[in-house]
Amino acid sequence: MKTKDAPVTKAYDVERIRAQFPILRELVHGKPLVYFDNAATSQKPRRVIKAESAYYATINANVHRGVHTLSTKATEAQEAAREIVRRHINAQHAHEVIFTGGTTASLNLASFSLGQLVLKPGDEVLISGMEHHSNIVPWQLACERHGAKLKVIPITESGEWDLTQVPFSDETRVLAVSHVSNMLGTINPVKELIAEAKKRGIITAVDGAQAIAHLNVDVQDLGCDLYAFSGHKAYGPTGTGVLYGREELLERMPPWQGGGEMIDTVTFEKTTYAKLPFKFEAGTPNIAGIIGLGEAIRWMEDYDFAFAKASAEQGKSAFAAHEHMLLERATKELLTIDGLRIIGTAKEKVGVISFVIEGVHHYDLGTLLDQQGIAVRTGHHCTQPLMERFGVSGTTRASFTCFNTTEEVDTMVTATQKAVKMLR
Ligand code: ALA
Repeated sequence: MKTKDAPVTKAYDVERIRAQFPILRELVHGKPLVYFDNAATSQKPRRVIKAESAYYATINANVHRGVHTLSTKATEAQEAAREIVRRHINAQHAHEVIFTGGTTASLNLASFSLGQLVLKPGDEVLISGMEHHSNIVPWQLACERHGAKLKVIPITESGEWDLTQVPFSDETRVLAVSHVSNMLGTINPVKELIAEAKKRGIITAVDGAQAIAHLNVDVQDLGCDLYAFSGHKAYGPTGTGVLYGREELLERMPPWQGGGEMIDTVTFEKTTYAKLPFKFEAGTPNIAGIIGLGEAIRWMEDYDFAFAKASAEQGKSAFAAHEHMLLERATKELLTIDGLRIIGTAKEKVGVISFVIEGVHHYDLGTLLDQQGIAVRTGHHCTQPLMERFGVSGTTRASFTCFNTTEEVDTMVTATQKAVKMLR
């Protein structure tokens, strides 16, 4: 992958990574920003911001619609981004990559279209107890429309799927589960569960929102039929997302939204649809965002893989290793706080740590941390059933990324200790 930056030669240089993110120069309440809300949305490197604004400044035009030069350039730039995504997730064909507005839109597309295709009264859709609302509600709606039932894989005390109690049945038509939990940080054994589902002829959909920036996602290796993710959680722009789908399944799935560009012919009697991926891309897409998403993936590959290569860790993610180191430090240090309980203690985790503290409301803690310039997420994290499973109303969540430092972890722990003294 070509980059204008000097080649990476050191194993991991967090300062070099930090220098790419303009927002890290901002002060919050007069303090240097400590951004630990990366699972909500990632910050954007300069290259992504530039790629997006360069589109508006130099080639802004609609895609796939005109013969004029700007339209051709915009179309080429958008389709180049599709190819970058294809290569990154190892899809077989670029037309298996559908651009959407984000993971939520991808999952709504998947559930609406699959509902039409396969669900009938008495059928079942299987999800897990740690799903984000985006991977619960769209399937609930599909079940309501088609008279199907939602079934749920229970969650263990450590925040993992209870694989001894997966309620597969002869009626299960779709398995829709997250690759990584946004609240617990658990990396789920999706490949194994998909293999089991496939033996039973079940269609499989994966919510990869929290995986895409932390794991090497290979859709062919996972064996999934559908894989959804957002650009904004992987250093890309908001309002961008992807639904990967296996060609043969996408060909059979009916469109989700109707409009321009998704058609082949229209008469008042009948419409025929465009070929893949355009059948699922009605209306003018977020062209600038898609170009930014392509650049975000290129940026991630340039640095992540290059650092891994420099430390002779080819094939591994240097970002993931760095984030894991931060997770271990934060876990050890936070546990020294009296009355603190970590929710989500799975063996395999990304750099996400959710916790509650006896006698301290998460909202108050989040507010006091913010006053120290520390951004964490507080609340139910769009996982109300999971909150109920663990008997809490909300948690404080710190989520780490490639540019966070051990000093920042220490700052958060010290600020938390101080806040606890004030709030108890
Ligand atoms: N799904 C995002 C999060 O977990 C918003 O914070």
